[in-house]
Amino acid sequence: MEKVSVKLSRNSYDIIIGSGLLSQTGARLRELGFTGKAVIITDSRVKTLYGDALKQSLTDSGFEALLIDVPPGEEQKSLETAGRLYYQLTDFFAERNTPILALGGGVIGDLTGFVAATYMRGVPLIQIPTTLLSQGDSSIGGKTAVNHGKLKNMVGAFYHPRLTISDVSTLKTLSKRELSDGLSEIIKHGVILDGEFFSYLEKNLAKIRALDEPVLEKVVARSAAIKAGVVEKDELDLGLRNILNYGHTVGHAIESVSGLKIWHGEAVAIGMLAEADISNRLGKLSTKELDRLETVIAAAGLPTHIPSLPAKALMQAMQHDKKIVAGKIKFVLPKKIGEVLITDEVNPSLVEEVLRDWKGSTEVTTSG
Ligand SMILES: NC(=O)c1ccc[n+]([C@@H]2O[C@H](COP(=O)([O-])OP(=O)(O)OC[C@H]3O[C@@H](n4cnc5c(N)ncnc54)[C@H](O)[C@@H]3O)[C@@H](O)[C@H]2O)c1
Ligand SMILES: [Zn+2]
Repeated sequence: MEKVSVKLSRNSYDIIIGSGLLSQTGARLRELGFTGKAVIITDSRVKTLYGDALKQSLTDSGFEALLIDVPPGEEQKSLETAGRLYYQLTDFFAERNTPILALGGGVIGDLTGFVAATYMRGVPLIQIPTTLLSQGDSSIGGKTAVNHGKLKNMVGAFYHPRLTISDVSTLKTLSKRELSDGLSEIIKHGVILDGEFFSYLEKNLAKIRALDEPVLEKVVARSAAIKAGVVEKDELDLGLRNILNYGHTVGHAIESVSGLKIWHGEAVAIGMLAEADISNRLGKLSTKELDRLETVIAAAGLPTHIPSLPAKALMQAMQHDKKIVAGKIKFVLPKKIGEVLITDEVNPSLVEEVLRDWKGSTEVTTSG
């Protein structure tokens, strides 16, 4: 088992990472001083796989547990769903000190976090992430939100959990594509801040994809620690957290122009390569480092090329990104593996040139 302590200005908490941790949840909540009621919020797919085991762990430790599920999918990150959940919480007489457990991927983490932050002005939140994306990235940082209309994460709050339990054995029921998708942000953490971790990934990608649990444990723990380190220094997203946007300037554009057919992690993978290439052409990143990145992304089962999407549409999507300040596109560019710089001085014609050059002849596979 690995442990990452997150030290925040007002409170601190632990992330524990290991296999078979789900069944210890009840006992760990008791250790934190919780008794009485507890509520699990999950989606129906995860409920079928892990809902009963988690509920059992709670009842074994003397909790009166309620298990609530919503359908899977991004559409559930809505005020309507949050509203229904508040009713279920009041019907159960959930109180100020009733812990709410988020069991699932990033959708459940964001939605449940938002509900926990707002129900009775805040009740204790426990994150139990079950996707590689949520274990290595999205469950850390305190960003909770629901979507509003077409706008993603429009309504939300910064709200940190009291404990995060990442059980890596739950990852074995993800599809290959889901696992690869989650690897993208983990690779990103290596590129932006930790060259040694990137080398570890280079050597261990086959084991990760074969779900070797000790390796998964290390990878999730290191990725969580890197993100936590950034979050500790910039809790409210006022500056340093910008480096987490590496790969996202181009990535978001690909994601949206593809009509979400290309998943977030896949789009970020292509975005990381395109942005690394921009850095290379500006003379900031060596070709050898760019090649290493491409090799790792391909070995992770992620796409390396932009599937037939028009470069012009991508450029337009980038201009509309909400992170644009005064018409200038901000880029996070790697100087080497493990170090980045932020600039808004990249010439749009260079960006367009790179997008054309990374255009592949093959489509991204969009099946399982
Ligand atoms: N808060 C943040 O800082 C942050 C950062 C990045 C992304 N996000 C959010 O995360 C969301 C995406 O999260 P995600 O990629 O985890 O997707 P997700 O939560 O939609 O989960 C993907 C699918 O996997 C299923 N699933 C989850 N765990 C499983 C398991 N162990 N075995 C089998 N199936 C399982 C789910 O039912 C779902 O169908 C987006 O809404 C995004 O906005 C938030
Ligand atoms: Zn992302």
